[in-house]
Amino acid sequence: MMFRKEPERYGAVAQFFHWAVVVLIAFQYTWAWRIEQAAGIRDRFELVTQHKTIGMLVLAFAFLRLGWRLFHAPPPLPKHLANWEIWAAKLGHLALYGLIFIVPISGWLYSQAAGYGAHWWGPLTLPVFIESSEASEALFYALHELFVKLLIAVVAIHVLAALRHHFILRDNVLKRMLPQWRR
Ligand code: HEM
Ligand code: HEM
Repeated sequence: MMFRKEPERYGAVAQFFHWAVVVLIAFQYTWAWRIEQAAGIRDRFELVTQHKTIGMLVLAFAFLRLGWRLFHAPPPLPKHLANWEIWAAKLGHLALYGLIFIVPISGWLYSQAAGYGAHWWGPLTLPVFIESSEASEALFYALHELFVKLLIAVVAIHVLAALRHHFILRDNVLKRMLPQWRR
């Protein structure tokens, strides 16, 4: 079955969600940088709206991806790994799953607290359930900033681990998350 997991590697759907979220998150950091560089208030507002739209897409993908994952177990890790490596991988993946929810949710709450208004998703607006105020703006900004930094840190470790598997341990852990791999 084309869209289901094959025995030794991640299936096409799991791979699609993984790499789509990586690309969208890369856009998010680029957009945050562009917001900082924006010359005027209109440019800034437009970029923030785009940042919100991409971020809500990450949140939607996070729900779909978690739903898919609950019914499609990942391929088992290679047998040569020590217990601590297996636990580190599980903990790291759990943290990444958590962060792809927490980072957009903290951004959404910050956006409401800062008074950026109802978010446009095509013709739809998202509900606003936090009143904008100086205190809540400061709190949710600090949280969004903290979680985006945490995401960078965990992703950095995750990438180093993937490269270690590929170049040092020389196993199939990286390849099985890539599309073209054949056994
Ligand atoms: C994966 C998702 C997201 C990532 C990686 C991300 C990342 C970032 C980063 C790096 C910043 C700059 C923080 C700083 O100045 O130190 C930022 C700011 C911000 N984010 Fe997000 N964000 C995400 C999702 C969202 C969502 C879903 C919303 C709202 C619906 C949002 C709203 C905002 C707002 C309003 C700002 C402040 C913009 C300004 O400077 O005025 N973010 N985000
Ligand atoms: C925003 C960045 C990233 C996030 C949020 C992320 C998230 C995740 C998550 C949650 C998993 C577990 C998948 C599952 O079991 O369902 C995973 C697996 C994996 N990721 Fe990432 N990832 C990111 C970036 C990367 C990058 C840049 C690479 C490549 C260098 C990479 C390589 C892998 C590999 C090889 C696996 C499979 C590991 C295994 O078989 O156990 N990831 N990733």
